[in-house]
Amino acid sequence: MDKVLLLYSGGLDTSVMVKWIQNEMKKDVVTLTLNIGNSNLDEIKKKALSLGAMDAIVMDVKNEFSNNYIKKEIYSDGLYEDYPLSTAIARPLMAEKAVYFAEKYNCNFIAHGSTGKGNDQVRFEVSMKALNDNINVIAPVRDWNMNRLEEINYARKNNIKISMNGKYSVDENIWGRSVEGSSIENINNNIEDDVYEWVKPLEETGNGDIIDLEFKNGIPVKLNDDYYDLTILIEKLNKIAGNNGIGIINHMEDRLTGIKSHEIYEVPAAVTIIKAHKIIESLTLNKYELDIKNYMDNQWSNSVYNGLWYDPVMDHINAFESSVNKYINGNVKLKLYKGNIMLKSINSDNSVYDYDKISYDNSNFDQNSSKGFIDIFKNNTVYTNNARKEKIKILQ
Ligand code: ARG
Repeated sequence: MDKVLLLYSGGLDTSVMVKWIQNEMKKDVVTLTLNIGNSNLDEIKKKALSLGAMDAIVMDVKNEFSNNYIKKEIYSDGLYEDYPLSTAIARPLMAEKAVYFAEKYNCNFIAHGSTGKGNDQVRFEVSMKALNDNINVIAPVRDWNMNRLEEINYARKNNIKISMNGKYSVDENIWGRSVEGSSIENINNNIEDDVYEWVKPLEETGNGDIIDLEFKNGIPVKLNDDYYDLTILIEKLNKIAGNNGIGIINHMEDRLTGIKSHEIYEVPAAVTIIKAHKIIESLTLNKYELDIKNYMDNQWSNSVYNGLWYDPVMDHINAFESSVNKYINGNVKLKLYKGNIMLKSINSDNSVYDYDKISYDNSNFDQNSSKGFIDIFKNNTVYTNNARKEKIKILQ
């Protein structure tokens, strides 16, 4: 009999899938649940087995997620349409584990719970096929054509315990929380307070906090007085920044499937870390490095958003990013206050900023040489304008 490895979250869609694959598709199911946020692995494993899964694999991959995925996003200031990629960056990790366990458990199919309208189906399937082109990937939610009510009825009929996880469609991991669906879909509606779980409303925030972030080779390693692993540092910063009303992104987004969607994100640590990272890079990289980095950052983000994590071009972009990030070292002190992140001070051994050259108080910079420099520099513009003078006159 065919065997399907199912990426299982424990929610309604994937629970219905465990039964559906057995009953309607006549295939055996092995579930795989990965913790990248705060999933209760024991509970989810029990549920999968109770629904008839042959095996239920569970695994905590939080540190792997931080050290191999989020780290690269920090290097690249990973923003798509100004939002720190949080859902998109977890998909290649899930795809990689799914392929690994499918091979190990002799599954010739992998199933995931994405719909046919979003980006995640693309990310999963491109990544899985890039890693093993012989595996068949299926997305039952895309194929079965049930609406939510029909799904709930199917669940009731098959004794699937329904944990109603709220009215929105939420995807969550340590780097961010993405919320869509329900009342958010109608952009004329006001956003309701129940959307937010990580970020405090501004009316309830206090007098602010000053934080000191230390970066080593592009990665934050110290928050205030203590060194932390990246996972812990992110979790702590999510609390501090979220308590100060920082990290809400409410925007229109252009999906890979060609449609615009209205999405709300809570990403307090991500926006704070990326802001601090950008501040240090503006101090430690020169203009040419920054120009290229901006371009590479953009390519990195678009590629990750579009599910191309395993395309070979990513190796080249990541090589550039890790090379420039060697110089992104130092401390940034920020005030977090009522949704704002304000720079207090910066300090870096790799600083290219030179007080002696910039200050008007001393003569370390030969101002007379500027005259000769301008004489030459102006030529391109002046010569072209002179050549076109006749035309300009006619236009006037
Ligand atoms: N649109 C976002 C992205 O493609 C997030 C989608 C997350 N899913 C959700 N159910 N909120 O990265």
